[in-house]
Order: sequence, then C-alpha cells, then structure tokens
Amino acid sequence: MTIDLARVDAIVARVGKDASKAIPILQAVQEELRYVPLEAIERIAATTEMTESQLFGVATFYAQFRLKPVGERLVRVCHGTACHVGGAVGISEAMEARLGVKDGENTPDLRYTLESVACVGCCSLAPVVMVDKRTFGKLDRKKAAQIIDDLEAGKGGAR
Ligand code: FES
Repeated sequence: MTIDLARVDAIVARVGKDASKAIPILQAVQEELRYVPLEAIERIAATTEMTESQLFGVATFYAQFRLKPVGERLVRVCHGTACHVGGAVGISEAMEARLGVKDGENTPDLRYTLESVACVGCCSLAPVVMVDKRTFGKLDRKKAAQIIDDLEAGKGGAR
C-alpha cells in the first residue's frame, strides 16, 4: 500500500514539530490513514525534531495506536465483564468462522478487521459487537454472523 506522504506533511505543518506533539501527530495520522504506517513514522522523524525511536516508543506504548493496516470495516467484539458473562467467547468464535480470520487479523482482501476489546460502554446490551461506530447488542452466535451477512448484502451500513 502506498502512503501519501503529503498528507503526513500537512499534519505536521498543522500540529507542530516539537516532541510534545508526538501524540497529536500520531493521532491525526491514524485518523486519516486508519493506522500509523512505518513510512509515516519515518517521514515525521525526517521533518520534525523527533527521532524514529521516540515516535515508535510513543506508538507502541499507547494501545490506541495501530501499526498495521486496518480493514475497511473494524469489527470489535466486546470482552468486558458483562459481555464475557453473556457469551463473548462464542461471539468471537462465530465472527472468526464467518470472516475466516482469527482475533486480531485482517481478512486477506482488507475488507474486515476482527479484534476483541474491553468494555465499550453498552453493558446493558451485552454481549455487544461494534462495527465501526455502530453497536449491535444482545447477540448470540447466529445474530453475530448475521451482522456480516447483512453488511455483505449491502444492508445495515455500519458507518
Ligand atoms: S462489557 Fe461489553 S459493553 Fe460493557
């Protein structure tokens, strides 16, 4: 995947160049590119006062940053306490089977990324799956797989 480094330069120009700006720059890069590519880190280091190792340190320390590409749709299965009790393990298994990937992986066509996350704040709807910003609750294995079927059928646009 080719990264448009002009977009990275524009972020640096907008946010700033000193070391205190590492987090906001990386956040802006991730907002725009959906992850923080190696090429972006190299470019930020080349155009600011920060080194690659400083930037990597920040990007790997904070769980919010992803260093791998993310699929067009991010499927997050909640594994917080309420969802765990409600059967989150089975939901993850159903999603893994439906998407053909393991937790934390992208589908080969980069259409989906599957990951488990901690409580997403909708415990009364447990067990919960979020697809991008949309929440699906009170799921069982079948309903979980159905979310993907609906997306594939062009129903239930999740953005
Ligand atoms: S535990 Fe899943 S939403 Fe809170």
